[in-house]
Amino acid sequence: MSSLEASYDLNPYLALPCTESRIDRLEGIGRLKGMAPADARTARVLELGCGQGGNLLPLGYGFAKATFLGIDLSGQQILEAQKVGRHLALENVTFRHQDVCELGPDEGHFDYIIAHGLFSWVPEPVRKRILELLPQLLSPDGIAFVSYNVIPGWHLHNWTREIMTFAAHGLTGMARLDAARSFMEGLAKSPRLPDVARQMLASAQKDLADKEASYLLHDHLAEHNQPFRFDEFHALIAEAGLCYLGDAESNHLVQEQMPTMAGFERPSETVYQEQLSDMLRNRSFRMSLLCRKDAQPSDLPHLENLQELWLRSYLQERPDLKPPSGFVMFETVDQKVQIGVPQGRICQALQRLQLVFPGSAPFSEFQQSTPAPLAGELLELWKFGYLDVLPRAEHYPIVSTEHPLASPIAQWGASMSQQITRLDHGRVTIPAPIRHLLGLMDGRRNLEDLAKEGVRLGYLDSAAPLQEVARFVDWCQKRLLLVSSEPVR
Ligand SMILES: C[S@@+](CC[C@H](N)C(=O)[O-])C[C@H]1O[C@@H](n2cnc3c(N)ncnc32)[C@H](O)[C@@H]1O
Repeated sequence: MSSLEASYDLNPYLALPCTESRIDRLEGIGRLKGMAPADARTARVLELGCGQGGNLLPLGYGFAKATFLGIDLSGQQILEAQKVGRHLALENVTFRHQDVCELGPDEGHFDYIIAHGLFSWVPEPVRKRILELLPQLLSPDGIAFVSYNVIPGWHLHNWTREIMTFAAHGLTGMARLDAARSFMEGLAKSPRLPDVARQMLASAQKDLADKEASYLLHDHLAEHNQPFRFDEFHALIAEAGLCYLGDAESNHLVQEQMPTMAGFERPSETVYQEQLSDMLRNRSFRMSLLCRKDAQPSDLPHLENLQELWLRSYLQERPDLKPPSGFVMFETVDQKVQIGVPQGRICQALQRLQLVFPGSAPFSEFQQSTPAPLAGELLELWKFGYLDVLPRAEHYPIVSTEHPLASPIAQWGASMSQQITRLDHGRVTIPAPIRHLLGLMDGRRNLEDLAKEGVRLGYLDSAAPLQEVARFVDWCQKRLLLVSSEPVR
């Protein structure tokens, strides 16, 4: 057994969904770029390095008619994924204990291939094999999702990684993490630090504080962790017969007045812009979408294709904020960014999308009543990551608050960590003890039963448990953690 396999067998990676890899999002992006990717609802999907199935199991649950194959080097993680798959009765998801290097073209074609947290974290021969396999295994209009660390942003994490691996030298498993953490803490407390080191250590400590143990063990302390400059990554994929479709996460910059770089040989305008953006944003991680060279996606989105697509907006109006004259203030649902939107049709479109959030509305609905330039304005918002472009409407099961039923995926997540998976493949954080209530929401208990049981098991500590349960159920309903409309008998 290789040391890499043993490290994941002994300390499994926390199983979480990767929201950006949701296959209908990939389908929407492909269609916008002029491709004809497979309908996500019936697609054939492969995940390389799927770990314990944190991404594939919720996808299998959400896309019941699609078929999913996950492979991973770690037998222990695959056993766990298989166990949960059986528990959730997901017949459309298969897990296989296998090295990616053993895969071959006899597997047939896949419409979507996901390799999340794999490319930078394996030795070079495995990376080469992944790049060889992708064009062989992708269907003609198939889309691959590949995440990896990038420079210049990763340089700063690498500084932390150097200190941590130095402190953990000669140790194995969790002892590595304990030694690295206490060394970092000791350094930060040391009285005679140069100012630069003090600032860098404080920022590193802040960055590490909310990271899961398994993430640090398999990322900062990983045996392999190879970041790339985007143009280098682009050259590697081009050599392998792949084409860059775009990124699953927005990387857009306002491009006016950017300097030109004398001496920088531009492979293409896209590579130049993406590279510049990584540098100016100090980006450390990417989720790139790739396709076969012969799929020939266009660099720019096809405005006319928007006609058949649906939009989901992450912007909510903030009437309490004072906008500049002629603008309306909006804020992202995660409350991280506020933007002013010009009054008029774009603002009306966002207000309509806010009403249907977290659902989506067809673009044609806006186009009927407004002139064509709206498409360009909405696409600008999409480029900045404020909108998703989806191939069709999203339907979530109706919810009853009388006998709440948590989705099986949310119940499974609550038993593992504070990061719980939503029905739309997103994540929300719910600390213990209250998150354990999700395990009690089995569609049989009403609010009173939940309050009694929650108090008995120590999940509720409030003086008014019934009100607390009602608030929590309402919160879960809004965050797409519940399913079903009828009590379970
Ligand atoms: C950092 S974890 C990411 C797991 C999962 N994709 C996620 O993001 O939650 C990397 C995974 O790749 C797997 N892996 C590493 N080398 C592999 C190989 N040669 N073949 C298959 N899986 C591999 C590891 O066992 C581990 O589960």
